[in-house]
Amino acid sequence: MRAHFTALRAVLALMCALLMAPSWAGVPNKDAKPAYAEEQTMLQVEGDSSVREPGFGDAASGRVHVDRHYLGQYGSTEANVIVQRGGNTWRLLRNGPIALITGTILLAVPFLIFVFWRAFRPPALEPSPTGRRIQRFTGWERNVHWATAYTFIALAVTGIIIMFGKKILLPWMGHTLFSWVAIISKYVHNVVGPLFILCSILMFFTFLRRNFFNRIDWQWVKKGGGLVTQEHVPAGFFNAGEKTWFWGGVVMLGLVMSITGLILDFVTFGQTRYVLQMANYLHVIGATLYMVGAMGHIYLGTLGSPGAYRAMREGSVDENWAKAHHALWYEEVKSGAAPAGSAGMRPGQVPPTSPRPGPAH
Ligand code: HEM
Repeated sequence: MRAHFTALRAVLALMCALLMAPSWAGVPNKDAKPAYAEEQTMLQVEGDSSVREPGFGDAASGRVHVDRHYLGQYGSTEANVIVQRGGNTWRLLRNGPIALITGTILLAVPFLIFVFWRAFRPPALEPSPTGRRIQRFTGWERNVHWATAYTFIALAVTGIIIMFGKKILLPWMGHTLFSWVAIISKYVHNVVGPLFILCSILMFFTFLRRNFFNRIDWQWVKKGGGLVTQEHVPAGFFNAGEKTWFWGGVVMLGLVMSITGLILDFVTFGQTRYVLQMANYLHVIGATLYMVGAMGHIYLGTLGSPGAYRAMREGSVDENWAKAHHALWYEEVKSGAAPAGSAGMRPGQVPPTSPRPGPAH
């Protein structure tokens, strides 16, 4: 009986909402946008309510806030929810200020990196190569790195399409093509997400040992990594910048993206709409920070530090490059204190794929 009553109320509410469609202009809440009938009803109910709505910063927010944000049996499960009032708040925030701020950041950062590169670009070939190469990354390490990188790029591209596609792509693609692009992006994102988590876990265990901070890293921080002065600050296997990227990016942002991503990906574990909306905010903020960090990482691994990309692509670096960029690691390799790369390689040994050792320039 009670269930029937609830269902009847819900159907009546929906009918009211639909019937109200032509009278949007008469809805008391003038600020209510966009004018979807159901949401207008919600806003009207909210406006007429004598109980004040607890705001997000309010101590009464949280559980109460969740309950007050759906039309249905108060306190019952979300299965009764037909229209959730908080959905409109979420949508207005996500499509409004959040999209504007994150979009601006994602366009501004590559531009700033370009300006930085024009002002402080490092010399193309520094220092002159000896032709003797040192193994830096094993095949496993490179595979883990590139698997994480490729899954990240797939998530970034599809995530941007999910977030901004309707604004950017739909107007020139039209509805038919865009619906395909959006659906494919969504499924790719949903499937690649868990793969990215797996890669991040492998990445964590593979590179953890070399990413603990030590006292020498402070020198690197104090000199800003020599990025502006173009000075080579002595560093171990990884410098402080790379370690910051490991802990701030791979670990912290990796956790934020993984937890919120899983909440959004597997929606059948009883999480409420409110939880999904909060997870979405965090996911978008985390994604923006992660993409910005990745832009910096890509710059420093290519144009910002010539020679670094080849290290991750082929696994080896020139002796002079190692001496200049990672002097402490180079010393350790030379003294035999640190292993240099994959099994069977000796410090300073030329990997089979590298050019033959030539005279020092
Ligand atoms: C670290 C890289 C990641 C980036 C840059 C990223 C980016 C994004 C972006 C920008 C959105 C759109 C948000 C919106 O439209 O409001 C999104 C949505 C989403 N993400 Fe991610 N994400 C990443 C990782 C993950 C992971 C690891 C998972 C799952 C395990 C995941 C699952 C989802 C889901 C389920 C959605 C909602 C898709 C939908 O609207 O149907 N994401 N992501």
